[in-house]
Amino acid sequence: MSASELVARAESAAHAATAALVAAADLDELRRIERQVDDELAAVKKGIKDLEGADRSAVGKALGVAQTQVRTVADDRRSELERVAATARLAGERLDLTAQGHGSRRGHLHPVTQVWRELEDIFCGLGYEVHGGPEVEDDWHNFEALNFPPGHPARAMQDTLYVDLGAPEQVLLRTHTSPMQIRLMETQAPPIYAIIPGRTFRRDTPDARHSPVFHQIECLVIDRGITMGDLMGTIDVFFRALFGDVEARFLPSFFPFTEPSAELSVSCPFCAKSGCRTCSQTGWIELGGCGMVDPNVLQACNLDPEEWSGFAFGFGIDRIPLLRNEIDSLQTLLWDNDVRFLRQF
Ligand code: PHE
Repeated sequence: MSASELVARAESAAHAATAALVAAADLDELRRIERQVDDELAAVKKGIKDLEGADRSAVGKALGVAQTQVRTVADDRRSELERVAATARLAGERLDLTAQGHGSRRGHLHPVTQVWRELEDIFCGLGYEVHGGPEVEDDWHNFEALNFPPGHPARAMQDTLYVDLGAPEQVLLRTHTSPMQIRLMETQAPPIYAIIPGRTFRRDTPDARHSPVFHQIECLVIDRGITMGDLMGTIDVFFRALFGDVEARFLPSFFPFTEPSAELSVSCPFCAKSGCRTCSQTGWIELGGCGMVDPNVLQACNLDPEEWSGFAFGFGIDRIPLLRNEIDSLQTLLWDNDVRFLRQF
């Protein structure tokens, strides 16, 4: 073979091998291609000994270039294939050590707490302060200062749980959040715009509608020139924030600590007053009581009724999540604490 033929053979062997090496699917194929091109180049090398001087070195040089090119491409492809093979081997050897768990569910606030917070949000938005207060009260705050004199028949309406402490029937579990009206007026100079959500207690046998422990929210406003109009307007705004497009209804009632007093109802948010199961076909849902703070109560807190006036309202919180979620039993809502049930809300 002539020198130029040998050079061409070396070049085309290197060219073909380069393309094949780049496409080699695995290390075996790579080695096969290398052997093939080695043979081809060895044949070229063999041809050199039949050549003379300048031709020898020209072919020798071409051979060297071809070998270097092939080696470089083969080395690159080899390390690439080795990396792929190593990754595949590691994946195959991987041990799954994760235990078969049950997953984790995200918790959420209890439906009563959700409403409690919602009530706080609404009144904070109206500029009210939120207060807590003692659950164990004395007779003065729970009754006497609220214009329930000793022996007053209205005391009997509130089935009181007394605590065996101090003089008989002087320490008790608060039967409503209203004693906080007194505590605020005793300790804060008006104007007062406050709400007090909290736990309250009465001697009741637990059933679907009764619980000896329940939740109320109290509202107290004391300022100059407060009228029944302020009370009604505030309740209207509040009911709409809580229930949407509803009406408030005020029916004459009696509480010793408000005068005039009213029973507070909301138009049924579920049937727009046409009557349904939730409102017992009446179109209205009774929520609590309200009224203008009685002058006797202001006086008991050393406030001059000629200067200050105010309103108060209070109602049960638990009623709201019951209605909203169509829950039949207060026990289920408050006490069963069955997560399968609570998880729904
Ligand atoms: N404390 C009263 C109750 O528990 C409700 C009420 C609060 C009434 C404030 C009037 C004013 O029934």
